[in-house]
Amino acid sequence: MSDWTLICRVDDIIPLGARRVARPRGAPVAVFRAHDDRIFAILDRCPHKGGPLSQGIVFGLSVACPLHNFNIGLEDGMVKAPDEGCVPKFAVKLDDGAIYLDAGELATLGVDLPLPVAGPCASKGGVGGGQIFEVQTPHSA
Ligand code: FES
Repeated sequence: MSDWTLICRVDDIIPLGARRVARPRGAPVAVFRAHDDRIFAILDRCPHKGGPLSQGIVFGLSVACPLHNFNIGLEDGMVKAPDEGCVPKFAVKLDDGAIYLDAGELATLGVDLPLPVAGPCASKGGVGGGQIFEVQTPHSA
């Protein structure tokens, strides 16, 4: 059975936007809102050369890395051809407009991978820096 960590509400992410979720260890997680309000979460680090995917452009169910334009599927974390690679994908639970990530995955998935090479999470301070999205409590209905 999974433990779920509240991240934010769907409405806290603009359509085709993203938020970063800091973790005690490893690169942040990028949480994306697609055009149809589906929510996806992948590691915020491009498998090519470490670009910050949360700063990329979302189109359809993919995100284009801001550094060299690799296209990465939000549903499976796979890089689209002709490029190759993959990025860890995180389970997402939606409940009454709130977004949750699996606590076990947040603690373990991809934590040994390096930090992004650019963007707000790339400083030597790494995760836990002041510019990273903080987990919020749900808004009252
Ligand atoms: S770092 Fe993402 S495409 Fe190069």
